[in-house]
Amino acid sequence: MLVTADKLLMLVDGRYSAECRLNNPGTDVITLTTEHPLAEHLSDHGTLFTDASALSHLAWQTLEKQCSVRLQHWDASVLRVHKYPDEIAKIRQAAAIADEALRTVMPRIQPGITEKALADHLEMAVRQAGGSKTSFDTVVVSGTRGALPHGRPTDKKLAEGEIVTIDFGAVYQHYCSDMTRTFALGNVNPELKALYDTVLTAQQSARDAVRPGMRCQELDAVARDIIAAAGYGGYFSHNLGHGLGLDVHEAPALSPQNTQSLEPGMVITIEPGIYIPGLGGVRIEDDVLVTESGSDVLTQSPRAWKDICL
Ligand code: GLY
Ligand code: MN
Ligand code: MN
Repeated sequence: MLVTADKLLMLVDGRYSAECRLNNPGTDVITLTTEHPLAEHLSDHGTLFTDASALSHLAWQTLEKQCSVRLQHWDASVLRVHKYPDEIAKIRQAAAIADEALRTVMPRIQPGITEKALADHLEMAVRQAGGSKTSFDTVVVSGTRGALPHGRPTDKKLAEGEIVTIDFGAVYQHYCSDMTRTFALGNVNPELKALYDTVLTAQQSARDAVRPGMRCQELDAVARDIIAAAGYGGYFSHNLGHGLGLDVHEAPALSPQNTQSLEPGMVITIEPGIYIPGLGGVRIEDDVLVTESGSDVLTQSPRAWKDICL
């Protein structure tokens, strides 16, 4: 997109021009060709503000050279941090699709199924429930592999006595959801149950604490302090959560460092976890809209211990 004071141009190559015209009525869509390259449209502009997070270093240098422009980084995430009502409706639907997909697949979360097969079923269920695709590569980790926060599903089979963590999301009309649930298969080691209870308490407390005006770092601390008090402080190895929208990771980061305040219209994840090498891990993640009066939790799948014991 080239945005100037008086025009908005969508510049695409021939693979996309017909589709872009179809999906963006009223927008000028220009097809780039060898005879009419990007330089023709950019070279008059001197300095262009560009989000560097969307370009490789090489692409940035090549653009500057070939188009005779100077690019200056501009953080486009500021445009995305507050969601419009129609965006919130789409994220809400993406969350509902994830809930529906998990409900469909839950009977298959049993000893004997492989992590990969479970991920395949879940991804198909997302599409069948109305999603266009999953919002990132589905995580399914079982047994001691649960200590890998973002482990990829393998041919390992789920076994009795293990816990399994599933982290996935749906895309609905380009907007993402992102949800994690951990399930227990039969009788699990009491320490795993203790991990679960701690993470659930931390997650519920953070969910309950969400309100406009709270700093991101304060919300992170609500969960982090509970996990530390239970003796697992060294095992919560990531931020409490992140913004969510067109991308699965957007501003604001719910990190111990971020002093930014929550504001109505932000959509965030709340996803504390504990990961102990050799034992396993637990994470619980929900998507939460910050409202004028507090919050609205968008993902609804059950989290109580009785509901996640299969
Ligand atoms: N799976 C991506 C996330 O939870 O942040
Ligand atoms: Mn996730
Ligand atoms: Mn997440």
